[in-house]
Amino acid sequence: MRVVGVMPDAYGGPEALRLFELPDRHAGPGKVRIAVHAAAVNPTDAVVRTGLGHERQQGYEPPYVPGMDVAGIVDEVGPDTGTDLGVGDRVMAIVMPKGNHGGYSDSIVTPARSVVRIPSGATLRAAATLPMNGLTARLALDLLSVPPGGTIAVTGAAGTLGGYVVQLAKADDLRVIAVASERDERVVRSFGADAVVRRGDDLAARVREIMPAGVDGLVDTAVLGALILPAVRDRGGLAAVRPFAGTTERDIAIHQVWVREYRREREKLDRLRQQVEDGVLTLRVADTFPPERASEAHIRLDRGGTRGRLVIEFRAEPDRP
Ligand SMILES: NC(=O)c1ccc[n+]([C@@H]2O[C@H](COP(=O)([O-])OP(=O)(O)OC[C@H]3O[C@@H](n4cnc5c(N)ncnc54)[C@H](OP(=O)(O)O)[C@@H]3O)[C@@H](O)[C@H]2O)c1
Repeated sequence: MRVVGVMPDAYGGPEALRLFELPDRHAGPGKVRIAVHAAAVNPTDAVVRTGLGHERQQGYEPPYVPGMDVAGIVDEVGPDTGTDLGVGDRVMAIVMPKGNHGGYSDSIVTPARSVVRIPSGATLRAAATLPMNGLTARLALDLLSVPPGGTIAVTGAAGTLGGYVVQLAKADDLRVIAVASERDERVVRSFGADAVVRRGDDLAARVREIMPAGVDGLVDTAVLGALILPAVRDRGGLAAVRPFAGTTERDIAIHQVWVREYRREREKLDRLRQQVEDGVLTLRVADTFPPERASEAHIRLDRGGTRGRLVIEFRAEPDRP
């Protein structure tokens, strides 16, 4: 099998990513093997590449392979998966990278509970953009548990995670105030945002102009931290997608969001599939790269401003069934 990864003595910029050949693996109990067509490139993948996540790799053989999202075709099914997944199914999966197990691989053996069929009508490259961020968006909203009719604010609403949060929140009957730049206003309104607030240091004050008592909940996908806390009402909630720096105030609950909590939540992942089919969620691919050019994808990732996900394509998109 071929993987894109990094050796610890090369940790650093995008050029640290290289192709490696590793022995093939087989699906053991509870697992399936996927011939990966597409692996999404997420901001957290840079943590593996730069070595910021080195602590977590202790005891695992390099190369260290990033990647939390894949889509492809099942080519081996282990015993006792407890699912109806079969060889030939077009699937997507959330991956928890560790050592040389990661999404940037042309073949991956992974727990069947992290795998579901892709939305009908979707390409594999588009499906690869859903599992990790879709589940994170679901988890953030579940943690906030704002009842229908309540109001949330979403920072980074034009980003991949933020877009899913806006769309899932609307499907949950919430009112959504989206934080986005002028050039992104159209897209976040197309996701269903009820109001759009510009980015900037006085952002919390501008949310308060719309909701004088503050919003019930806030999903901070732009990682603004304490700066945005004044936008939340007394005893409301803030969902933080990176460790929250600072202290809370006015009994606002800080919910730390770790998608690994939902990594085996197959029913929730399948519900996301359904919501794509129902037109609730929009899949966005910004660009695709062959594995040999994974470094270029990371240059784009580091530059920021990408709308939709960058995707590494290990195999050509197959004809639709
Ligand atoms: N904890 C978890 O389990 C978990 C899971 C998934 C994701 N995450 C994290 O969630 C974050 C978002 O991920 P993503 O994939 O959605 O990233 P993304 O697609 O790059 O979106 C981030 C959004 O935030 C905006 N932004 C950046 N700085 C801003 C600022 N100062 N003010 C307002 N908006 C700003 C970006 O705009 P520009 O592009 O114009 O800068 C972009 O629209 C990342 O930090 C990721 O690591 C955590």
